[in-house]
Amino acid sequence: MFVVAARPNFMKAAPVLAAMRARQGEDDDVRFSPFVVHTGQHYDAGLSDVFFEQLSLPRPDRDLGVGSGSHAVQTAEVMRALEPVVLEQRPDLVLVFGDVNSTLAAALVAAKLGVPLGHVEAGLRSGDRAMPEEVNRLLTDQLADLLFVTERSGLANLAREGVDPGRVHFVGNTMIDALLAHRERFAQAAPLGELGLTPGEYACVTFHRPSNVDGEASLTRLCGLLRELAARLPVVFPVHPRTRARIEALGLGASLAGAAGLTLTEPLDYLSFMGLVAQARLVMTDSGGIQEETSVLGVPCLTLRETTERPVTVAEGTNRLVPPGDPAAALAAVDDVLARPHPAPAAIELWDGCAAGRIVDVLVRYLGARPTEAGDT
Ligand code: UD1
Repeated sequence: MFVVAARPNFMKAAPVLAAMRARQGEDDDVRFSPFVVHTGQHYDAGLSDVFFEQLSLPRPDRDLGVGSGSHAVQTAEVMRALEPVVLEQRPDLVLVFGDVNSTLAAALVAAKLGVPLGHVEAGLRSGDRAMPEEVNRLLTDQLADLLFVTERSGLANLAREGVDPGRVHFVGNTMIDALLAHRERFAQAAPLGELGLTPGEYACVTFHRPSNVDGEASLTRLCGLLRELAARLPVVFPVHPRTRARIEALGLGASLAGAAGLTLTEPLDYLSFMGLVAQARLVMTDSGGIQEETSVLGVPCLTLRETTERPVTVAEGTNRLVPPGDPAAALAAVDDVLARPHPAPAAIELWDGCAAGRIVDVLVRYLGARPTEAGDT
């Protein structure tokens, strides 16, 4: 049973489903019957449906329609809605992705029902428990039977937390599998002409972390930084619904709309967004996954956060942390990027497009060693 929930889950799950289909085609002894549950944490068509279409994800077998809410409400609602589905389907394994509230909710349901749990993107740690995602990561990993790790820092983190190394599998990054599989389609999909942008001569920015967008002081500072950035080069800013709501609530929309060189858009589909990122001169973000994607694409990334749970992107990739409270430092980093030649794509260990296949290898061994129920299809 695949449990997916929010935008960053979809591109991590799609390659695993594709690898299962491929393995079944190659080996008559292997049979998977994936059952896809969408919790409905992200329900807007632009954050969900279009990703299913572009990534060739099958329509969910069950949509829980949980929607938004406080952390406690959202997590509890996913648990309440998922438990009967797990009881009814009795899966051999529940597979969860990333670090969103639904990831932890599904992990708790599986663990309490005694269903084995696999966690794709295990072991990442920012060290900052004020991030809701850090809490979700820590607890999901404590419950998981199979932990699929994307980068070596995850192995050290899990060892430090006492996780049995026999449960841990360093497989690489399934989100990078999706990127490499779709890369040829990015260039045509990017709406550069529509937005009046020239390849290699604009910045692409995204912000949605509560620490940057929820508070008035931080969001006002961020808007000022974006205006300064747009004075240096054209900027395109696909705005996450959380950020849009805060901009409107704080009356900051007019100052952004009036800034020359700054274009705000609705959230973009996967191919259009990755096409924009791939051809950008630089990216500024507070996202997790974009730090990884820019590294593989060889696009400089300035991450407006104090910490990262993805240190390999700083050590070996194109990522640099910029303190969110210091716009002058952020602009100095921008100027530094603009003064340097464009970096080369990073070759990060096991980020080679084959991570999902390694996960399926582990699943074949793990599930093959467990008795399956007679008569299942
Ligand atoms: C969630 C994840 C975050 C991930 C992000 C990617 C958690 C704790 N956070 O944050 O890790 O990086 O997704 O996008 O799980 N909304 C809509 N339409 C939607 C979904 C949300 O308008 O389809 C609005 C709602 O007003 C909601 C707000 O966005 O209150 C936040 O949504 P929520 O799912 O709580 O968290 P994200 O900020 O999207």
